[in-house]
Amino acid sequence: MREDWIQSILDEAKSRGLERTARAYPDAGGKLIIDGREVLNFSSNDYLDLAHHPHVIERAREALEQYGVGAGSSRLVTGTLPIHEELEARLAREKGFPSALVFGTGYMTNAGVIPVLAGRGDLIFADKLVHASMIDACRLSEAKLVRFAHNDAAALEARLEQYAGAEGRKLIITESVFSMDGDLAPLKEIAALADRYDAMLMIDEAHSTGTFGPNGAGLIREYGLETSVTVSMGTLSKALAGFGGFAACSENLRSLLVHSARAFIYTTAPPPAVVGAALGALDVLDASPNLGNILQANADYFRSLLHDAELDTLQSRSQIIPIVIGDNEKAVAISQKLRERGIIAAAIRPPTVPAGSARLRISITLAHHVDDLERAAKSIISAVRN
Ligand SMILES: Cc1ncc(COP(=O)(O)O)c(C=O)c1O
Repeated sequence: MREDWIQSILDEAKSRGLERTARAYPDAGGKLIIDGREVLNFSSNDYLDLAHHPHVIERAREALEQYGVGAGSSRLVTGTLPIHEELEARLAREKGFPSALVFGTGYMTNAGVIPVLAGRGDLIFADKLVHASMIDACRLSEAKLVRFAHNDAAALEARLEQYAGAEGRKLIITESVFSMDGDLAPLKEIAALADRYDAMLMIDEAHSTGTFGPNGAGLIREYGLETSVTVSMGTLSKALAGFGGFAACSENLRSLLVHSARAFIYTTAPPPAVVGAALGALDVLDASPNLGNILQANADYFRSLLHDAELDTLQSRSQIIPIVIGDNEKAVAISQKLRERGIIAAAIRPPTVPAGSARLRISITLAHHVDDLERAAKSIISAVRN
C-alpha cells in the first residue's frame, strides 16, 4: 500500500517511451562478444580503449597488492595513501595547474567543488546543456542559477551584463566537450568574459581529458587558458578508463576544498587499485601522446560517412557524435534494430537530453578500426532511414 505510487511513476515513464533499465553487458570495451558473436559497442566512454590495457591493469594490480582492496577511511582520517598524493601531483602537472584533488567520482567532484565556490547570495552562470552533476551541484550550493544559451558567448555576456552590479561571487560553468552533443565550447571567448566580468570559471573536462590537447591534457591546455580557469574538473572514468574524478586548481583552492568540500570529506578515499589504474592510464598517454589525435581523426572519418548520407550530427567536433531522431520510441526502436545487427548505439532520451531531441549517442573509441567504422556507419544509415 505504501508503495502504490511507485508503480504509477514507472507506468507513466513506460507509456512515454522513457523507461530506463540497467542491462548487463559481458564486458566493458568497444568490442564485445555476445552469444559468441562480435558486437561493436558505440556507447562506451572508454575512448582510448585502455580498460584492458596490460600496463593499466598492471598498475592497478600493483596498487592492490601494495595497499589492499580499500583505503579504509576517509581522506581526512587515515584514508590518504601515498598513491593518492602521487596521482594528484601527476594530474596537476599534466593539466598545467599548481595542484589537484581527487574525488570518488566525477559527479562527486562537481558536487563537492561548486558549493565551495558559490553559495547563497552568489551567482552561477551555467551553459544550458551542462551535465546533470553540475546542475545538482548548483542546487546544492543554493546560489542563484542563471542559464545562458548553449555555447553562446554573446548570450553569456548579456547575462553577465544583466548582473554586473550584483553582490556576491560570480562563477561561470561549462563543459569543454559536451557529453551529449560532442561539440566544443568557445573557451577562449568565455575565458575572456570571465576576466572582464571578474567571474571565476570552472570547466568540466570529463570528455576532453585524454582525448584532446598535449598528451591528452584537455582543451584548457590546448588553448593555453590555465591561468584564466579557476577549476579544471575531469574524470578518471572515461578516456582514463577507470573510476574517479578530480579538480585541478590553485594550491589555495585545493586547501579550501580539503577543508570544506563535503563530497571530499564525508566519504571513503578512492580504492588503491582505481588510483593505480589512473596512474597507469596517464603513463600510457605520456608514452603515446598521439592517441587523442588518432581518435579525433577516426571520429572525423565516421562523421564524414554520416554526412555523405546527409545525416545530421549537430555541431559535433569530437569523439561524441549525436544522431538526433526526435521521437523517444523511434530512437529506442532504431537502437534495438542496430543491436540486432551487432551495433550497440544507446538511445539517449529526456531528461538526459532536451525534450524532442532523443538521439543515438555514438562514441568512437580506439577499439574501432576503419572497417568497424564503415560497417557501423552503413548499419546506422540504413536503420535511421528505414
Ligand atoms: C560532463 C560530465 N561531467 C561529469 C560526469 C560525471 O563523471 P563520473 O562518471 O566520473 O561520475 C559525466 C559523466 O558521467 C559527464 O559526462
